[in-house]
Amino acid sequence: MKTSTFKSKRFKVLAERPVNQDGFAAEWPEVGLIATNSPNDPKPSIKIENGKIIEMDGKPRKDFDMIDQFIADYAIDVDVAQEAMAKDSVEIAKMLVDINVPRSEVIRITQGLTPAKITEVINHMNIVEIMMAMQKVRARKKPRNQCHTTNLRDNPVLIAADAAEAAVRGFDEQETTVGITRYAPFNAIALLVGAQAGRGGILTQCSVEEAFELNIGMRGLTSYAETISVYGTERVFVDGDDTPWSKAFLASAYASRGIKMRFTSGTGAEVQMGFAEGKSMLYLEVRCIMLAKGAGSQGLQNGSISCIGIPGAVPSGIRIVAGENLVAMMLDLEVASGNDQTFSHSDIRRTARLLPQMLSGTDLITSGYSAMPNYDDMFAGSNVDIDDVDDYLILQRDLMVDGGLRPVSEEEVLAARNKGARALQAVFEKLGLPAITDEEVEIATIAHGSKDMPARQVNEDLKAATEIMEKGITSIDVIKALAESGFEDIAENILNMLKQRIAGDYLQTSAVLDKNFDIDSAVNNPNDYQGPGSGYRLSQERWNEIKDIPQALKPEDFDTEGGK
Ligand code: 5AD
Ligand code: CA
Repeated sequence: MKTSTFKSKRFKVLAERPVNQDGFAAEWPEVGLIATNSPNDPKPSIKIENGKIIEMDGKPRKDFDMIDQFIADYAIDVDVAQEAMAKDSVEIAKMLVDINVPRSEVIRITQGLTPAKITEVINHMNIVEIMMAMQKVRARKKPRNQCHTTNLRDNPVLIAADAAEAAVRGFDEQETTVGITRYAPFNAIALLVGAQAGRGGILTQCSVEEAFELNIGMRGLTSYAETISVYGTERVFVDGDDTPWSKAFLASAYASRGIKMRFTSGTGAEVQMGFAEGKSMLYLEVRCIMLAKGAGSQGLQNGSISCIGIPGAVPSGIRIVAGENLVAMMLDLEVASGNDQTFSHSDIRRTARLLPQMLSGTDLITSGYSAMPNYDDMFAGSNVDIDDVDDYLILQRDLMVDGGLRPVSEEEVLAARNKGARALQAVFEKLGLPAITDEEVEIATIAHGSKDMPARQVNEDLKAATEIMEKGITSIDVIKALAESGFEDIAENILNMLKQRIAGDYLQTSAVLDKNFDIDSAVNNPNDYQGPGSGYRLSQERWNEIKDIPQALKPEDFDTEGGK
């Protein structure tokens, strides 16, 4: 907006506000630039013959594209479809918010709906109703959180220190990626060692090209995967050289090795890639969610993710992003609910975008939170970063809500960061990788971000990272290196991560591991919300933790005896 064109001084000031640096667009259904309810969205319908769907959302089976076919054959529960589709969409929307209808009954019905019907149900819900439904329908009882752990220079020492800090701050899952692809094995090892130095049981992933990501997963250098992307139109899918069947195959490959995985999708991707077929963002996203369901994935990362600027630009877009999270829950999937990319210059707007997930609680509220300053976030910056962490902790306290994080002391953070960095130093030494100096460890311990770090020899590091893959290094080598250098506890933690794969327990829906390597999932801790007094409630212990921020004045800080 040009500021010079205003006569009004108020309009001039408004034009200069951060929110007016954001991009906004009017609805344009022909290209899919509409959050929901496009005039081109199909109308709900279903016809079933001999247990097979022969018509869906107004289209006969012979006209199905591959996404329709996959959804009809694998994602819709045909045993309840007739009953569910016969219900009015308003009635289903009411079931979602009615505390007297248990979650189990809601998801029995919602799993029998077609994409157009699900879209119609969400269209009837306002943002508060969507939040009420999220609180009730998410899979795991206790909400938790996930973070990004990356940096601009792929500096492994800093990744290890940041991972250790993020672990003590309360993140149950951590995700890294690369600036330069060849660094991937280094980043994965640094994240693994750093996270397990912070607290045992943290799940870690490294988001890279799919075959490579599976490879490092099988080597035990990561323990889950998240960015198995699906899209809502055939053209976009085929552009990525994929089909729903190839994605289902990949999902099975992870499961076969006891590795947790979830799919990724989100509103806006099809618009961004130019093939939205004039359909609304929500309708196309519902198709993606159903693909994840049909492929047998336990969960999904959605909430627009890297495309958030697109729904963020159109009317009701941020409401629909919460709506798409709810749809994943309605299909009984774990949901890692976005809030993971920069989308607004306005602090008010990015808080508003966060609150539906944070207040309702989701399996993983952000996917993820930048555990570093945003300039180091290699997922193109997050909606919330480490510089926001005190705001986040105070929001938890103000609203008495569990956002998954905990207040920490400087000493605790410094000790964790130092231990993570030293442990990685020892691993590099034992594995014959380019040395990590004591100076690097010291600086990583106190660093704010990668700008504080001394430069490393990029060529040597890249050569060594490539050799890790060629030599067939696995997490067993990392465990041995740690055990031989006095880090038996971290070695034990990583070994426990491998044992978990044999047990297979963390393949349960919404599974995470606590510090004793006990599972917390939708299987052993299902969400049983049915109104006040039920579902997830803060324990006294957890509330005491959330309340106890160091900034708060305590009675003993006041001089009550008069001028002593
Ligand atoms: N739809 C599908 N996949 C997405 N990703 C991010 N946003 C979306 C979306 N809206 C995936 C891509 C990207 C990774 C970070 O997550 O694979 O590389
Ligand atoms: Ca993520």
